[in-house]
Amino acid sequence: LGLTAVGAVWAEYPDKPVTIVVPFAAGGPTDKVARDLAEALRKPLGATLVIENVGGAGGTLGATKVSKAAPDGYTLLLHHISMATSPALYRNMQYKTLEDFEYLGLINEVPMTVIGRPTLPANNYAELVKWLEANKGKINLANAGLGAASHLCGLLFQSALKIDMTTVPYKGTGPAMTDLLGGQVDIMCDQTTNTTSQIDSGKVKAFAVTSPKRLAGPALSKLPTLDEAGLKGFNVSIWHGMYAPKGTPKAIVDKINAALKQALNDPEFAKREEALGAVIVHDARNNGPEHKKFVEAEINKWGPVIKAAGQYAD
Ligand code: MLT
Repeated sequence: LGLTAVGAVWAEYPDKPVTIVVPFAAGGPTDKVARDLAEALRKPLGATLVIENVGGAGGTLGATKVSKAAPDGYTLLLHHISMATSPALYRNMQYKTLEDFEYLGLINEVPMTVIGRPTLPANNYAELVKWLEANKGKINLANAGLGAASHLCGLLFQSALKIDMTTVPYKGTGPAMTDLLGGQVDIMCDQTTNTTSQIDSGKVKAFAVTSPKRLAGPALSKLPTLDEAGLKGFNVSIWHGMYAPKGTPKAIVDKINAALKQALNDPEFAKREEALGAVIVHDARNNGPEHKKFVEAEINKWGPVIKAAGQYAD
């Protein structure tokens, strides 16, 4: 009877809308990836996908919600590098990254850009550094909260330049971008999925990219990498993956993973991602076990870097 029941669960799944929790505010890069992916997932999964934005605490609130959700395949998490950075920052996190989730596969890798408010009196990286030096103690750097990708990049940028900046946290870099455009904050390190259109339209000042190689695109290609601009070895790329609560039946995990792999090969999804500087992952990390191994390696890579910066959240 038990086997039949499990079989029945699997055979019916999904028979109602599937929620993808995005642990940041709508309008930011994580939300952008989720909505584009949901479009490509709809057919392969055979379900309506609903995006639920649960912002706060650098993405840990949304991840906590999914870690405690019913393991039935109807509440999934789309999250990024903060799955690996939060454990070093949040001393009493409500979930264990490697134990409380089923790993559904890695999706993409997204480079970041260092951008500034349109009124910032600097028009290239060298002038930005001069301005930062001259305004020590008065610089406002926006991010999406402790542990967010924008926090990690900002942390590394500050320590590489040895210039402390005041960080202004938002529930996502969507709302942070609004304040940057309005001049309420000075600079931000954010993913190209959120900044490319603003950079191409000249609405923000753009200074550098965090990838090891220059990016393609009319405006992005003109930006130096931070490595060539003098911050040797600076290389931050934000990966995104999908997760389900631990205990989700393997048959359902496998069905979602198969649908995800189809979605990653969707030409429309590829076009949208590439237009925004994102690189879709087409290697073994699309599979759960390798996705999990990769996250574990990232926890071991970023943990010491973050601990060295001495920032914690309780
Ligand atoms: C981040 O900085 O982690 C992301 O940009 C947050 C977001 O997607 O809004």
